[in-house]
Parts: sequence; C-alpha cells; structure tokens
Amino acid sequence: MKTSLIVLMTVALSIQTTHVFADNTNGKNLYVQRCAVCHGPDIKGTGPLAHKSNPPTPDLTTPAFKKRLNDYPGVIVSSIILRPNGDLIPKTLRENGVKIPPHAWSVSDFRDLNQYMNDVISKKQH
Ligand code: HEC
Repeated sequence: MKTSLIVLMTVALSIQTTHVFADNTNGKNLYVQRCAVCHGPDIKGTGPLAHKSNPPTPDLTTPAFKKRLNDYPGVIVSSIILRPNGDLIPKTLRENGVKIPPHAWSVSDFRDLNQYMNDVISKKQH
C-alpha cells in the first residue's frame, strides 16, 4: 500500500518535472525579468535600454553570434558570471532608473536560462 503510493507520487513528480522542463518557465522568467529590458523579448537587442549604452546591446540572433555560441557554448552563462563588460550593465540600469533585484543564481537557473536563450536563438532567422 505504502509502496504503491510512493510509486504513484514518483510518477506524478516526474511528469510534472518533464512538463516544467519542456515549458522552461524558469528560463523564460529569468530572461524576461533580467535580460529583456536590453536584449528584447526576441533577443535581437530591441529592449527599451538597448541603445542606452556604448556599445549598444547586440543582436544575439545573427549568424555571427550563432557561430560564437557554437564555438563557445558557455558564452551565455559566462557573460552572467564573469561580467566581461565590467560595470556597463549596472551603470546602464542605474542611469536609466531601472532596478533589477539581486538574484541568488542556482545551477538550474543558469541551465534553464541558457537553454531558453539557445532555443529562441536557434529558431530565429536573421
Ligand atoms: C543594461 C542592459 C543589459 C542587460 C540587463 C543585459 N545585457 Fe547582455 N549585453 C548588453 C550589452 C550592452 C552587451 C554588449 C557588451 C559588450 O560588447 O561589451 C551585452 C552582451 C551580451 C552577450 C554577448 C556576449 C559576447 O561575448 O558575445 C550575452 C550572451 C549577453 N549579453 C547575455 C545577457 C544575459 C543572459 C542577460 C540577463 C541575465 C543580460 N545579457 C542582461 C546589455 C545588457
């Protein structure tokens, strides 16, 4: 009796996990809340702050960026962790009065956001 309940719950849980993963709600939410203000919903650099920085926010759906992503699949996650552009992003947000609350990134957050962006980018023709 007890065992069958556990089996049932495990099945229910795995269905739910698969569902969440397929939708990738977490990746989408992270992108929308933390990146889209510059990168735009289409990842083409069309957000309201895209042209408020120097250099401006690049279009990440170009063949050039697709090649970069292919040669260096870590580019999205590393751009969050390493902040290769220094203070550029915080400065642009600050100057335009946009606040993005700090976030304690988990490994699955990085994976989900990376997956979400890869999915959108790979579907976009330039
Ligand atoms: C304030 C605007 C702004 C926000 C918010 C922002 N970006 Fe960017 N992003 C930029 C700009 C500007 C560049 C180009 C910087 C440069 O060339 O030094 C860039 C470049 C990138 C690149 C290209 C890096 C490369 O080496 O080619 C990636 C990937 C990226 N951003 C991912 C993200 C992700 C993921 C988020 C959200 C977690 C995010 N960005 C949030 C403005 C922003």
